[in-house]
Amino acid sequence: MTERDMAYYFTVENSEKVVQDRAGPKANPRLKEVTNILVKHLHAFIKEANPTMDEWLMGIKFLSETGQLCTDWRQEYILLSDVLGVSMLVETLNNHKMSGETESTVLGPFYIENAPHYANGANICLDGKGEPVWVHGRVTGPDGVPIKGATLDVWQANEDGFYDVQQKGVQPEMNLRGVFTSEADGRYFFRSAYPRFYPIPHDGTVGRLLESLDRNHFRPAHLHFIVSAPGFDKLTTHIFTPDCPWLHDDAVFGVKESLVADFKTVDDPKKAAEIGLPNPFRSVEWNFKLSKAAA
Ligand code: BEZ
Ligand code: FE
Repeated sequence: MTERDMAYYFTVENSEKVVQDRAGPKANPRLKEVTNILVKHLHAFIKEANPTMDEWLMGIKFLSETGQLCTDWRQEYILLSDVLGVSMLVETLNNHKMSGETESTVLGPFYIENAPHYANGANICLDGKGEPVWVHGRVTGPDGVPIKGATLDVWQANEDGFYDVQQKGVQPEMNLRGVFTSEADGRYFFRSAYPRFYPIPHDGTVGRLLESLDRNHFRPAHLHFIVSAPGFDKLTTHIFTPDCPWLHDDAVFGVKESLVADFKTVDDPKKAAEIGLPNPFRSVEWNFKLSKAAA
């Protein structure tokens, strides 16, 4: 085969280059760069996995069905990215902390905007289920200086392992969600329920994939936070309970060692009465250190 043929005819050897060379002079440069990398790895994957035609079709059907499941409330493609570790990889590559700032983790599909704003001390557990927990701490900058007026958007699953949006008409609306604002000394505090582990949605293509791979579909118990303040990077993170059986087997790989908190049992009737919880109660102190936004 001549050099010229090599450039024009598709062969197993030159497949990657033939596809990449089709981009024209008006191609979007970044899209071209990313697509070329995708083609490079996709062709290498196919050459290594060497699927039969039936296997290829099975893969296409899996992706089609994944798309057909997607709605505003059900993001099966994000879930696929999550269980393949891709969401965590993108998130971690984009948020590497240099000097002890709080680490980030996945957002997940159950965040909703416009949760109710509460005064510090409020109880976000509207269904009254679960073990009461006192959540408190401070928001600071990287230098430890308190940030006043930081916004803490919090959400979590209930005692039965579901978010309110998964159980419309069963849980009170906006159950276990709220937005708090840090005080002058950076302090925030609220009441909630001790989080429990829960299954990610597993009645679709992603659930079938996990089952076929003999993988679990659980997320270890956690509270979600988005913490933001002017002049600082927005932080999307969790705090995890230390005693959860799924802590080392998170279906979406979201656990980072620095995000595992100490939830103490406090036996202090005076404090319990003061904050409006039964005695004894669980308590977690968690301080958020935000990174300065790039100038
Ligand atoms: C969550 O923590 O809410 C979540 C994250 C990824 C997939 C499913 C749920
Ligand atoms: Fe979650």
